[in-house]
Amino acid sequence: FQLGSLAGRHVVITAGPTREAIDPVRYLTNRSSGKMGYALAEAALDAGAQVTLVSGPVNLSPPPKVRLVAVESALEMHAATLAAAESADVVIGAAAVADYRPQVAAQDKLKKHAGEPMQLTLVENPDIIADVAALPGLRFVVGFAAETQHLEEYAQAKLKLKRLHAIIANNVADGGVFEQDENEVTVFSRDGGTVSFARRGKKQLARGLIQWIAAALAEKPCD
Ligand code: C5P
Repeated sequence: FQLGSLAGRHVVITAGPTREAIDPVRYLTNRSSGKMGYALAEAALDAGAQVTLVSGPVNLSPPPKVRLVAVESALEMHAATLAAAESADVVIGAAAVADYRPQVAAQDKLKKHAGEPMQLTLVENPDIIADVAALPGLRFVVGFAAETQHLEEYAQAKLKLKRLHAIIANNVADGGVFEQDENEVTVFSRDGGTVSFARRGKKQLARGLIQWIAAALAEKPCD
């Protein structure tokens, strides 16, 4: 692990789930623990980077020296990430952003109407990492693709659709990733490269991924 391989670089990482308010006491969310994003933040710090961690609600302590921007909703994460990305050399989208949010967050607690179905209208959230990749300026933008089938095909499609430099694909079919300490991934890059990282602890994996990103950055400044 090359210490200082990200020296002088600003790395922005999104992590954790988002919470989409239904009313003042209820929300929609998902099973993301934030472990992968927090491990990436720690590995990037160890590699000498200045790190901004834009995090949804998780039960983890941020690594010391990280600049933590705590958010709840996808819209908050979107605003905070785009603002931080302005000065970033690398942006990694490790957050499990809710695809949809309730169209309205009720001002008051919703009341139960016994015996009647309850309907919620959901509207699409913005795609944070795609919007980062569309910003003017040079930065290396990396996303994750958690898939249960057609891993390579879907990951490659997201790489192109979101105009990322690289995508970290993991198979979540067996439930062995969310809330777990281990992960195994394959990285697909825009230039056609493929690198596989065998199953290992998320901290170890994060070090490998940060090393790979640092090498990619050193090799050719992004376009
Ligand atoms: O399309 P999908 O949600 O599978 O894409 C996953 C990647 O896109 C992850 O890097 C995730 O952090 C990012 N993403 C995002 N904003 C969204 C949805 C996903 O940044 N609204």
